[in-house]
Amino acid sequence: MPLTLQQVPELVFGEGALSRAGERLQAMGVKRPFIVAVPYVRNHAERLHPDAHIDVSTQNEPTDGHLERLLEAARAAQPDAVVGIGGGSALDVAKLVAALSNSTQTLDQAWGIGNLAGRNLPLFCIPTTSGTGSEVSPNSILLDEKSQSKKAVISPHLVPDAVFIDPALTITVPAPVTAATGLDALTHCIEAYANHFAHPLVDTWALDGIRHIAGHLVTAVGQPDNMEARTHLSLGSLYGGLCLGPVNTAAVHALAYPLGSRHHIAHGHSIALLLPHVLRFNIPAAPERYAAIALALGAERQANDEATALAGINLLWRLIGETGLEMRLSALRIPESEIPLLAAEGLAVTRLMRNNVRPIAQPEAEQIYRAAFDGRWESEL
Ligand SMILES: [Fe+2]
Repeated sequence: MPLTLQQVPELVFGEGALSRAGERLQAMGVKRPFIVAVPYVRNHAERLHPDAHIDVSTQNEPTDGHLERLLEAARAAQPDAVVGIGGGSALDVAKLVAALSNSTQTLDQAWGIGNLAGRNLPLFCIPTTSGTGSEVSPNSILLDEKSQSKKAVISPHLVPDAVFIDPALTITVPAPVTAATGLDALTHCIEAYANHFAHPLVDTWALDGIRHIAGHLVTAVGQPDNMEARTHLSLGSLYGGLCLGPVNTAAVHALAYPLGSRHHIAHGHSIALLLPHVLRFNIPAAPERYAAIALALGAERQANDEATALAGINLLWRLIGETGLEMRLSALRIPESEIPLLAAEGLAVTRLMRNNVRPIAQPEAEQIYRAAFDGRWESEL
């Protein structure tokens, strides 16, 4: 099947990339950018442009209501460009501000795949975590307050005009956030490579992203200012993001969404909690794909693909343990009685579930959730 890549026209990667963003805004003649930032990067945002309108109200889990308030602020400010600087939440919000603040289209009309009418304002994205890959993806994910579910706007108009990835911005990211966002990026790569719609056009990014992240995540968590490890994570995160538009994720993301929307567990952490259990379930449907993933994770080749694949996921389980992330839903105050509901809501994210290499029904989804509830790991298939 043919695959379409919607690429960022200008991508600057490397230490010092942030200063290029300011230079680029000046060179484009931008007079009043609207900057969506997270509070802890306000100082970086202020250096981008002397006359910027800076909004730092974006928190984790932005909602449709939050976006509406930002759209009002942006309409009042009448910017001539929009910049997102922060983690995935700030970037997702900035992308929609750029597309909707001077449009007659409403958010309700834009939800879904390919429904966004356009974008009139130039858009820059500057990630400050290594995780979501939102800076190069056509996706924006928000929490819909009415239904308490995550909804997506997916459109080529959300791909920014320019992206500046500066690994130096990530050295202040706390260890648990480094772990969670890094595992999110790793999952983007894994779910794109072992995917019902996997494609050779993005396979290389996916496998290389796995190598970069698996090889350096624990170092970055333990040594926050290790620039080499941070650079590898930024690269892996970028590669994961490049997979998100054309192939996208699958059951790990779908099943994890209710943990974010109902219990406000950070996106990357919710992904990590379910990741090993979903992969273990998926192995029989695509053993050769999971064997290649295992080798990229750093596992040794075993007697056959199934055994190699399992060795990889056992290694992944240990790697997550070394990052120190809590891996028991029971320890996060998720009621066990809610498992059927969480499983059902995850299965309802059909735009991602249809990508999964192995069909999952309610009993299997609950079984996956129960394994994550106990945080138990069976190292045999
Ligand atoms: Fe993700």
